[in-house]
Amino acid sequence: MELKYVAYEKKERVAVITLNRPEKLNALNRDVLTDLRKALEEAEKDPEVRVVIITGTGKSFCAGADITEFTKGVADVRGFIELGREVFEFIENMSKPVIAAVNGYALGGGFELALSCDFVIAASSAAFGSTEINLGIVPGWGATQKLVFMAGLAKAREIVMLGEVFSAEEALKHGIVHRVVQPEKLMDEAMALAVKLCQKSPTALAIAKAVLSRSARSILAPGLELERSMFYVAVSSEEAKEGISAFLEKRKPKWQS
Ligand code: COA
Repeated sequence: MELKYVAYEKKERVAVITLNRPEKLNALNRDVLTDLRKALEEAEKDPEVRVVIITGTGKSFCAGADITEFTKGVADVRGFIELGREVFEFIENMSKPVIAAVNGYALGGGFELALSCDFVIAASSAAFGSTEINLGIVPGWGATQKLVFMAGLAKAREIVMLGEVFSAEEALKHGIVHRVVQPEKLMDEAMALAVKLCQKSPTALAIAKAVLSRSARSILAPGLELERSMFYVAVSSEEAKEGISAFLEKRKPKWQS
């Protein structure tokens, strides 16, 4: 399996997938998503692998969708968003538990990547946020719906409409992460959880995951569909163009309306 933007390592029965584009804080472009999908498919089909851990290289878990993807034409943006949605749904539909070991920034689509995993363990130095609003867009990979479900409507409003970056402890308080650990212990703790999961019946675990993920999805489905269609409205707006240009030009956006 040839991978450029993701590292894949098997440690006994655990597959560790590491996003590896540190110069762009592991932002997800098409290439990263394609490699991530390949690595996940490999883990799913390997009978020796029982649990998957996703983490990131450097100071970031994942700084979200690569913002340059939004400067392309409508068809390309759609293709990119649908690719991400497929990868995140693949994680939810896998027969094996997936742990996000959040080592740093988990923003926008990076936060949504963590929200697609079954368990989230965060370094105390990790930082979370649905920061899309600062770019004149909105989340498109599930955060608006999953956050209402996990943290409640009031907190979801705050996270999505203010777009602020918040700490791992704050995420823990609102039921978004399972555990916060010292940064140097992150991978050991993620591995310890993986080993615990490896001791369970793989069949029962796969069924438990399917029931939990599918029942959550059936409740969230209409909202996820609404989010998806409204994302395309937002990303086509003039204000999105301004927000995205402002980020790329390293300046503050000037909203027109
Ligand atoms: N898409 C594309 N490039 C990104 C990116 C993203 N989501 N996040 C970071 N980068 C790039 C930066 O443009 C920069 O590239 P450069 O060195 O070629 O200029 C590089 O990654 C390092 O980021 P930088 O902003 O210099 O690091 P920082 O430590 O000052 O700030 C963040 C870190 C995470 C606060 C900041 O990068 C940020 O706000 N990123 C966007 C997060 C976001 O809104 N994600 C949701 C996207 S929908």
